[in-house]
Amino acid sequence: MSERIFIGVAWPYANGPLHLGHLAGCYLGADIFARYHRMRGNDVLMVSGSDTHGTPITIRADQEGITPAEVVERYHAEFLDTWQRLGISFDLFTHTNTENHERVVHDIFLKLLDQGYIYTDEMQLAYCPGCRRFLPDRYVEGVCPNCGYERARGDQCDQCGRTLDPQELVRAYCILCNGAPEFRDSEHFFLKLSAFQEQLLEWIREQPHWRANVSNQTRSFLESGLKDRAITRDLTWGVPIPLEGYEGKRIYVWFEAVIGYLSAAVEWAANRGQAADWESFWKDPETRSYYFIGKDNIPFHSIIWPAMIMGYDDNLNLPYDVPANEFLSLENRKFSTSQNWAVWVPDFLDRYDPDPLRYLLSINMPEAGDADFSWAEFVRRNNEELVATYGNLVNRVLSFTYRNFDGRIPEPGNADEIDRQLLASARGALDEVGNSLEHTRFKTAIGQAFGLAQDANRYLDTKAPWRSIKTDREEAGSTLFVALQVINCLKVALAPFLPFSSQKVHEFLGFDGAIELENWDYEALVSAIQGGATLRQPTPLYTKLDVQVAELESQRLGNETA
Ligand code: MF3
Ligand code: ZN
Repeated sequence: MSERIFIGVAWPYANGPLHLGHLAGCYLGADIFARYHRMRGNDVLMVSGSDTHGTPITIRADQEGITPAEVVERYHAEFLDTWQRLGISFDLFTHTNTENHERVVHDIFLKLLDQGYIYTDEMQLAYCPGCRRFLPDRYVEGVCPNCGYERARGDQCDQCGRTLDPQELVRAYCILCNGAPEFRDSEHFFLKLSAFQEQLLEWIREQPHWRANVSNQTRSFLESGLKDRAITRDLTWGVPIPLEGYEGKRIYVWFEAVIGYLSAAVEWAANRGQAADWESFWKDPETRSYYFIGKDNIPFHSIIWPAMIMGYDDNLNLPYDVPANEFLSLENRKFSTSQNWAVWVPDFLDRYDPDPLRYLLSINMPEAGDADFSWAEFVRRNNEELVATYGNLVNRVLSFTYRNFDGRIPEPGNADEIDRQLLASARGALDEVGNSLEHTRFKTAIGQAFGLAQDANRYLDTKAPWRSIKTDREEAGSTLFVALQVINCLKVALAPFLPFSSQKVHEFLGFDGAIELENWDYEALVSAIQGGATLRQPTPLYTKLDVQVAELESQRLGNETA
């Protein structure tokens, strides 16, 4: 029976290019998961979009002397291009600056207000007399009261990691004019999170399948007691408040960005001319919703967004799982945009193919703990694993068959014990990989698929068709037939991770159409290989990288400016 799966992926701020940390954090895992479920015949809706509001955007605009809208336009276009080049297969990647989004945000805001889950109160905020404006937290900097770091931001100190209020900073200054801010009262709207404490605790108890990191963070957040949060700010860039008298204020980016998961589903349905289609992904209790995010976003998805849903509409699905990843570091240092300590995805794709990157970030995904990307490891794993294990397997079987059997699949013979063993491990691998993917264990899953490639290599070494071809052509043909059946299984087991290579293998094997339309089905895959069918001339799937690549690339780090 086919299942319905909703996949929400963190909305990246459209204020700069994406780096490998973003990919490893959530986009790659989400895509692998979506591709797997589609091949299983399940109904998948995977959405996200550019987060176009918030101070990350306005700070960038101020730095460059352009408007926030111009910043957003540039990077939104770049994100779309990146997804395309990398094969991240969103059903919709929109942004938060649409009328549709505003409508859905207003609906939720007004409903929560009506129910008493949103109320107004006064709060003290930093105001810069020189600039004659209220300052968002990140526009105030000063000395960290905890560690003494000179340039702590009003929301957090980058040196000691402590979260801060602008009031706590010593010798605070406005980042726009360097003047000293004062603190003034301002009226704001608050989300009554405290009202959801019990309901959330109860709901969390029903989620034993969550990853330990997500469960623990969520629990400790809840156990320390939920505080109501301000959900509006004194700003002019953002979603307006749908009430008279608040023209100088906007809805806080975090409150409205998470609503994107719902508004994007509505937009997706409208785009395909079936306006009600979003409902099956949001209202059918059988649908499972997964939120792929980085670990810094956990409470927003495991507490705040669920609370908003609870207060807004009982009929909407809460998250089924929030498989947040840990962090990826780069050559053992934290990614840093300001120090240009990053590998930017568009740059990477200018120089290398997408699948080797997808391979490395899958086998080394920061799933259960932090992970590190280094160029040396990229080169080593590309050469020793991707090229040597899988690329060579495909290449040697396909080119040998193509050359010796007239570009056709040879006829099968009678299977012996060794053939049967390899086919059993292909059947087993499809099951195991599928099972790991169901549980969002990506590292394990790709390891299992590569285990099958290793078995196939050993099988070929034992059977040595390049020797038997000289004495017993039928025997060689029969071995190659089995190897082709297994490669046909591998192309599917690896398609969620390596979609571009799988498409090629699919075509080399003589098939037409998109690899995405293939099914995760052992019987169908082995019987699709038919003696006499035409193959296409194969070319190598991957290129070996020179060890110098690692040196050259490492030298680039931290040098050029972003
Ligand atoms: N743009 C924010 C970030 O990157 C929020 C992402 S998730 C969202 O941290 F759902 F809240 F948008
Ligand atoms: Zn100022």
